[in-house]
Order: sequence, then C-alpha cells, then structure tokens
Amino acid sequence: MAIDVVSVALGARSYDVRIGAGLIERAGEEVAPFLHRKKVAVVTDDTVGPLHLQCLLDSFAQQGIAATSLTLPAGEGTKSWQYLAQATEWLLEQKIERRDLVVAFGGGVIGDLIGFASAIMRRGVRFVQIPTSLLAQVDSSVGGKTGINTAQGKNLVGSFHQPSLVLADTSVLESLTQRDFLAGYGEVVKYGLLGDSTFFEWLEENGTELYADREKRQKAVLRSVQMKAEIVERDETEEGDRALLNLGHTFCHALEKATGYSDRLLHGEGVAIGCALAFELSQRLGLCSQEVPSRVRAHLRAMGTKVDLADIPGELPSAEALVALMGQDKKVVDGKLRFILARGIGAAFVTDQVPPETVKTLLSEALGRRG
Ligand code: GLY
Repeated sequence: MAIDVVSVALGARSYDVRIGAGLIERAGEEVAPFLHRKKVAVVTDDTVGPLHLQCLLDSFAQQGIAATSLTLPAGEGTKSWQYLAQATEWLLEQKIERRDLVVAFGGGVIGDLIGFASAIMRRGVRFVQIPTSLLAQVDSSVGGKTGINTAQGKNLVGSFHQPSLVLADTSVLESLTQRDFLAGYGEVVKYGLLGDSTFFEWLEENGTELYADREKRQKAVLRSVQMKAEIVERDETEEGDRALLNLGHTFCHALEKATGYSDRLLHGEGVAIGCALAFELSQRLGLCSQEVPSRVRAHLRAMGTKVDLADIPGELPSAEALVALMGQDKKVVDGKLRFILARGIGAAFVTDQVPPETVKTLLSEALGRRG
C-alpha cells in the first residue's frame, strides 16, 4: 500500500506526517534528509522496545546512522519529573546537540515525555515522532503538545514543541492488544463526532474491521490525522478551535484522576466514555435530539469499547467529587468549566455555559446505572 502524507502547515515549524505500512523498516531513509550528521538518539519503552527497536536500529544502521537508545518503563507513570530528568540527562550524555535529532519511539507517553525533553534540552532540539499506538498515531504525535503529569493533574507541565517529522507505521498496530487498539479508537471516533459526520458514518460501517483490515485502518488513521492537522493549523496553541480536540476529555480527565491513572481506565477508554457523556449532556441541554447520544453509544457498544461509568471496574467517587475533579482541569478558565458539546454528530463547539448542577445530575444518574 502507498504511503499517505499529511502536511501540517505551520510556517517555519511545518512538517509531514507519513502514514503507511513498513515505515519503521524505512525509518533510516526517511530520517536521513533531516540529519546534519549521521547520529540520532532513540527513546522507547519496555513494551515497544523488545518488539520493534531492533528493526528501527537496523534501519538506521543501513543508512550509516549511529543510533543510541534508552528504554524506559512502559506506562503513564513514566510521564513524570523523574523520567523527564533521566531522559534529558541521558540525551545530554549522548552529546545530542541542537542540530541533531531525537527519536521518540513509542505510544503517547514516550511521545509526550521525549517531545518535552527535546523542547527543554539546549533550549530546544529537533525530534521525530515514531508513534506505535493507535492513540499516538491519530492524536498525540501530531500537533506538538508535549509534557508530563504532576501530582496536581495530567499534562500540567509541558510546552508546544512541533516534531520535524512523524512516521506512523500502520503495520505496527497489529502488535497492539485488542484493548489498546480499542482505547486508541476512542480518539479516532472523536474526529467523526466533533467535525465529520460522513467519517462517523464510515466508522459505523467499517469500525469493527479496522483491527484486521490494513487498508481501512490506514484510511482511518489518515482521516484522523488530516482533521487534526487542519485544526492545529488553525489554532496551534489552543486559543480557540483546538479545544474541539478535547471532546470527551473534561469527563475523561476527571475519571482518570479518580481511577489513579491506572489500568482500570486507559486514556482512550476515558475519551470514549467522555464522548458518550458529552453527547448525553448536549441532549439534556436541548442542543440535540435523544437519537444522537443513543447512536453514539450504540456505535461504541458495537465496537466493544467502554461506554459507561458501569464499564469501569472498582469504586468511583460521588458525582459531586467528580465535578470537583473536573474543576482542576486545565480547561478551566476564570473558574468556569469548559465543555465541548455538540448540536449533532460532527457539529461540536466549545462552551463555558454549562450549569455544574446539570453535570452533577448526569453523573449521578450514570453512577446509578453501575448498580
Ligand atoms: N490531544 C489534543 C490536542 O492535541 O490538542
């Protein structure tokens, strides 16, 4: 299959996202034109490393590119001060200079952490994203958001630092567990829900085949990246429209916090639940008809993702406590919660005009369905 290319047009910070099967094997050729000297430093994690690092290193070796690598523990806990310090100091020890390239090779955690390390070391070195999860390919590797989590919440420390190139190898997604693939799907369906009803209809028809069908999978990644690129081009630093990409995220971040960023709820699962809740909230506020949230939920159910608070194992805090957790979200402006609501499928908008009482009632009923 051919490689698809999406250009993210951001003036001097423009770059391509290349999407297709076999890009890891060809990474040396792809990266070579960006190098001033034949040297890169790769950071990965201990899930991706054993499966794919050798293939990447071989590809660099074939082009005569010297590559050193660091493998960090997999998991959200790695997006922390501790590992930021470790990765940054390791990159400095490798004598990575401003004109060199750092390679972030992994899912969203590695991309965000290493993107941030690249942003702060030597006041900014260039980096390449080679995302290996569906979530990272369709969302976190594109758009330049980098950062870490702190005790106060997710992604509260970070910076915008655009990559120089993104290589989304769609064949690597075949090594994901079904659960991780479906978690990434939460971010794919988000694009249809927020701005492209035709894409959502296509996903209703084809979503269950994406895991097995390469061509359809590539099409889903391509459309998602195109939409992300368009939004990021309009609003690189989230002054306005980029907030649309946070559909489902105000609920998601509170649920992730409530579940301790643990295996009980993966980020993309929280996004899927959050999207279902955002459409339910939109309906309650009279913005769309009852059929719309029902259709969203029916599709998520058909995909086999988490849809409801009832799908999260273990205890959850009260509706009141969940609303309080939302109050700590980055999206709070002047003390007002910002939500992404919708007037229909593909018709999302940003608002801070949501009565907290309506959110509390919605959550309390959703918690009631946990039995
Ligand atoms: N993941 C949301 C954004 O990149 O803005």
